[in-house]
Amino acid sequence: MKTQQIVLASRPIGTPTLTNFRFEDVVLPEMNDDEIQLNTLYLSVDPYMRGRMNDAKSYTPPFEVDKPIEGAGVAKVTASKSEKFNVGDYVYGRLPWRIHTVGASKEFIKIDVSVAPLSYYLGILGMTGLTAYFGLMDIGKPKAGETVVVSGAAGAVGLMVGQIAKIMGCRVVGITGSDQKVKLLKEEFKFDEVINYKTTQHLEKSIERSCPDGVDIYFDNVGGVISDAVIRNINFHGRIPLCGQISLYNSSTEPYGPRLQPILLTRSVLLQGFIINDFQSHFPEAMQQLITWVKEKRLINSETIIQGFNQLPVAFLGLFEGQNTGKMVVEL
Ligand SMILES: NC(=O)c1ccc[n+]([C@@H]2O[C@H](COP(=O)([O-])OP(=O)(O)OC[C@H]3O[C@@H](n4cnc5c(N)ncnc54)[C@H](OP(=O)(O)O)[C@@H]3O)[C@@H](O)[C@H]2O)c1
Repeated sequence: MKTQQIVLASRPIGTPTLTNFRFEDVVLPEMNDDEIQLNTLYLSVDPYMRGRMNDAKSYTPPFEVDKPIEGAGVAKVTASKSEKFNVGDYVYGRLPWRIHTVGASKEFIKIDVSVAPLSYYLGILGMTGLTAYFGLMDIGKPKAGETVVVSGAAGAVGLMVGQIAKIMGCRVVGITGSDQKVKLLKEEFKFDEVINYKTTQHLEKSIERSCPDGVDIYFDNVGGVISDAVIRNINFHGRIPLCGQISLYNSSTEPYGPRLQPILLTRSVLLQGFIINDFQSHFPEAMQQLITWVKEKRLINSETIIQGFNQLPVAFLGLFEGQNTGKMVVEL
């Protein structure tokens, strides 16, 4: 059977472009025992994939040049040599950027389609939701009445963090990159204050004005100058879940900034980096909580769904230009 895939054509220097990707026609291999054949329905594009385009050691191995890009996806079983799955089942797992694929059944988890739409498993009920949940709850440890600032606030993780912080009774201040997103966060997601980092004259002072009692928790999705400005406003015994640094992912030079350690030291601040897999043994209970909040309509899903396999590279590049609200997903 013939199918189409997208491979890493070359490693980017600085911001990636469409030339770093290549479309190829390939023939699917025959299925072996315990394997399933899949028709890919949704693929997730995520900022961390930028790191995998570099030839650098990290918590996940780099993508290989001339090999398919891969990431989280949802697919339908079209043929099965596994007792675990039947034709017609829906599964979640790591998938190559390929329209059809064959994979080992042990690599996939069956999805209960009665719980939520399939794309939710790439966002609100997937890694995104779990990242927001554990970063905020286990590292941030929010208490009612505290002030939580979240950067990348209208993105997949940020929107979840803001909503969970509201459920916890916190005052929530978001930082995002457009007036349209500011309006959405305030009006639909009930953020208390939202700052447009692209238009504000003085970010540090804007944060100070928006957080009259200081910042108790800073959920950092972006790093760089935005985080420098927030951390200058952090309170005594503040907590900083260090989730992402998207503003630095395309830097081709070593980024420099102010030395923030004296602030962390003198205000007894906890700053903790984390990778979501650190919390793997607790995923089931967190997932139950997320499902409950979704059913109670206390967590509202937000996603930007781009149509078409051939739009995958465009959707991925769009993350670095703020083209998504909520989870960026491609529907094949
Ligand atoms: N630690 C973990 O295990 C883990 C897991 C998942 C994600 N993450 C990290 O969490 C962060 C958010 O991920 P996500 O999946 O939710 O992505 P996302 O926020 O949905 O998408 C990226 C958003 O980042 C903002 N952005 C892009 N370039 C920026 C820049 N130079 N400065 C400031 N903001 C910029 C854009 O929004 P604006 O319009 O607001 O600029 C864009 O929409 C990323 O850094 C990601 O790597 C970490």
